[in-house]
Amino acid sequence: MPLSLVILAAGLGSRMNSDLPKVLHPLGAAPLLAHAMRAGAALGPERVVVVTGHGAAEVAQAARAENPEALIAHQAEQLGTAHAVAQAREALAGFSGDIIVLYGDTPFVSPETLEAVVAARGRHGVVVLGFEAADPGRYGRLVTQDGTLERIVEYKDASAEERAITLCNSGVICADAALLFDLVDGVGNANAAGEYYLTDIIDLARARGLTAGVVACSEAETLGINTRTELAGAEAVFQARARAEALENGVTLIAPETIFFALDTVIGRDAVVGPNVIFGPGVTIESGAEIRAFSHLEGCHVSRGAVVGPFARLRPGAELAEDVRVGNFVEIKNAILDEGAKVNHLSYIGDAHVGERANVGAGTVTVNYDGVMKHRTTIGARAFIGSGSMLVAPVQVGAEAMTASGSVITGDVPDGALALGRARQENKPGLARRLRARLLALKANKSEG
Ligand code: UD1
Ligand code: CA
Repeated sequence: MPLSLVILAAGLGSRMNSDLPKVLHPLGAAPLLAHAMRAGAALGPERVVVVTGHGAAEVAQAARAENPEALIAHQAEQLGTAHAVAQAREALAGFSGDIIVLYGDTPFVSPETLEAVVAARGRHGVVVLGFEAADPGRYGRLVTQDGTLERIVEYKDASAEERAITLCNSGVICADAALLFDLVDGVGNANAAGEYYLTDIIDLARARGLTAGVVACSEAETLGINTRTELAGAEAVFQARARAEALENGVTLIAPETIFFALDTVIGRDAVVGPNVIFGPGVTIESGAEIRAFSHLEGCHVSRGAVVGPFARLRPGAELAEDVRVGNFVEIKNAILDEGAKVNHLSYIGDAHVGERANVGAGTVTVNYDGVMKHRTTIGARAFIGSGSMLVAPVQVGAEAMTASGSVITGDVPDGALALGRARQENKPGLARRLRARLLALKANKSEG
């Protein structure tokens, strides 16, 4: 049975107290929306429709970043969850199969749970994902009878008796596409909130002689983010899971509780990660690489046998081949380091290519920016860059070439050549002692006067 996703992401999330639309707040260095989209993507949906409203342009951009084929439906006014689903009708024209509705602010729903919801559709016209709430608060309540769902009542509209129900609505709903849009058309807004409630489709489906079913999951999975406090709590949950998963996959984490992962971090077996390492978005670490303490990595690829840190910074476009060494207080950005290259101390390598086994001395800087444009530096294989070299790009240092330490290299260096780009040293015999004596005399005069 073909399946499509509708992800509701139009709400402002006023309780976040933020200019940023709620679904764009980051969790594991990825927008909340990306988490929901990823869980749904595991079902192999034919189409993915994201309903946008507040911050529509930014939300659409984030949706396309996660899935370039995502379709965007705009909900100009947020009149309720049924109204939001109705906006997806056009994007789903010509689609036949089931639709599963997810919320963009509910990041932890697992693919397995969604599969169970889809599977239950075989037995019911509409399936709702529910959970037993420790504190049901303001959730919609699932009114059931002998295991089938009779209706969903929103907290605001519920009687005292209904409020005592602890089985709650997660918001995830699954139904046949044509049926869903038909049912949504019949939803009115005569309720306490004056909203078009998606939850009303249960009543409407039953009035047509269809049955509704509930699949239950743990409350942790349906955790929705409404406040910054909840977001911070969710981050802790996300990190705990990511750490457990990395350990399970054979990664050594020396102090797991101090390591932070992103949603898309990939780390191979037998990699070793030291304490206090932060992975931003877009990091791949191959098997057997070592990332030492206090390193910060984003948008980079570290190959087998490479050692990074301690205190290293890898920024987007850093590509480290096998057995590369990047040491303390080194920053690498948009640069390829070929096999066995070493940049061990206090250097900035940006917009560059470093050839295999080249050695870049302490304090070297690729001077890539002229205040307006960025320029490239190329360092050849087995070249030796003396400590404190300023490589003023665009510039090329040839294979097996050397630069003298302290050089400012502004012109290309041919293969095998030594470049000296600094003033020649001059020694003045005895001058240091004479100078010091004069200064001491001056100081003594001053304190007397
Ligand atoms: C909803 C459910 C409630 C359930 C709860 C779970 C309804 C009527 N109620 O309530 O039964 O227990 O979720 O968290 O469905 N949205 C839009 N457009 C709108 C309105 C909402 O896109 O016009 C989006 C929001 O951005 C959010 C989601 O839909 O991602 C849920 O909306 P929200 O207003 O938070 O619903 P609740 O009142 O929490
Ligand atoms: Ca909510």
